[in-house]
Amino acid sequence: MTTSWPAAVRIVEVGPRDGLQNEPFPLPVVARVELILRLVGAGLKSVEAGAFVSPKRVPQMDGSAAVLARVLAGPPPTTGATAGAVDYPVLVPNLQGFEAALAAGAQTVAVFAAASETFSRHNIHCSIAESLERFRAVAGAARAAGVKLRGYVSCVAGCPYEGAIVPQAVARVAAALLALGCEEISLGDTIGCGTPASIRRMLEAVLREVPAERLAGHYHDTYGMAVANVYASLEFGVAVFDAAVGGLGGCPYAPGASGNVATEELVWLFDGLGIATGVDLEALVDTALWIGNRLGRTPGSRVARAVLARRAGGSGN
Ligand code: HMG
Ligand code: MG
Repeated sequence: MTTSWPAAVRIVEVGPRDGLQNEPFPLPVVARVELILRLVGAGLKSVEAGAFVSPKRVPQMDGSAAVLARVLAGPPPTTGATAGAVDYPVLVPNLQGFEAALAAGAQTVAVFAAASETFSRHNIHCSIAESLERFRAVAGAARAAGVKLRGYVSCVAGCPYEGAIVPQAVARVAAALLALGCEEISLGDTIGCGTPASIRRMLEAVLREVPAERLAGHYHDTYGMAVANVYASLEFGVAVFDAAVGGLGGCPYAPGASGNVATEELVWLFDGLGIATGVDLEALVDTALWIGNRLGRTPGSRVARAVLARRAGGSGN
């Protein structure tokens, strides 16, 4: 465990993918593009743009090729907090998805494994071992095409079908993804059941296989523990965190799971700790409000609600 904070962290915004994949109705391509551009405008440099999965299984991600092509066609931001290149990772479950992502211009793809056999079968219709073989093919193709590879491990703190997952199972899959060539491995608490104690035990096991600088935390907030779990992970040297604007999100194959930790809650946390994110909280809350309006609800995060109340003159801070 480290006692000093990093000077800066990177937030990987997963709202346009994880945030929208569980919505009852697919959002049109044009709205998904606008969401991504607003997030980039708020200063986010890594924005997960979609998923090249079966449209029969996840219709909300249909059109990801068009979304990616349109955001890549725009000029990179040149001023202010958003200056510099933006990365738009997309999910690919197999070679078929990789080839479609490559054709749409993907420069980073993410494969997604699980630490639970049952979840793997529900989510991607194959065992963990079979998924790793599929990802080996994706990794080879990505290397040949000069495309960066990210890897996810789902169910790092628990599984909706199997219950508790032992930390060693997470460490094994994380090590396998590292060996395949994943530059970054994102540890997914898919159903948000982790607490700082279980996340620490999980990280202790994973860190025996994968260095902290190659890890990201991806914590859903079902039980309200995601910010605490991010804080616990910071203490282990993890400095990349996935989050979704407005706390959107869930997984169609994880019944009962709620949204990701809200990006604005992480920005509030990191601003308070003096850790740079490059993200503008006010612009982010505007985006949470905008996507909430599109989806017909108010932003779910406490930070967004507090900022909006302060703007309306309802709060003194
Ligand atoms: P399958 O049905 O097992 O496989 O799909 P298949 O190879 O037999 O193919 C069946 C049909 O799917 C065929 O079409 C294929 O062409 C098509 P048909 O002949 O019936 O018309 N197909 C595809 N179509 C588009 N893109 C592809 C593709 N591959 C096959 N890449 C597959 C296997 C993995 C594709 C399927 O099970 C699937 O799409 N699953 C969805 C998984 C998913 O998106 N889950 C949510 C994201 S993961 C998540 O949220 C967790 C995360 O956030 C971290 C965390 O929180 O833990 C990342
Ligand atoms: Mg997720």
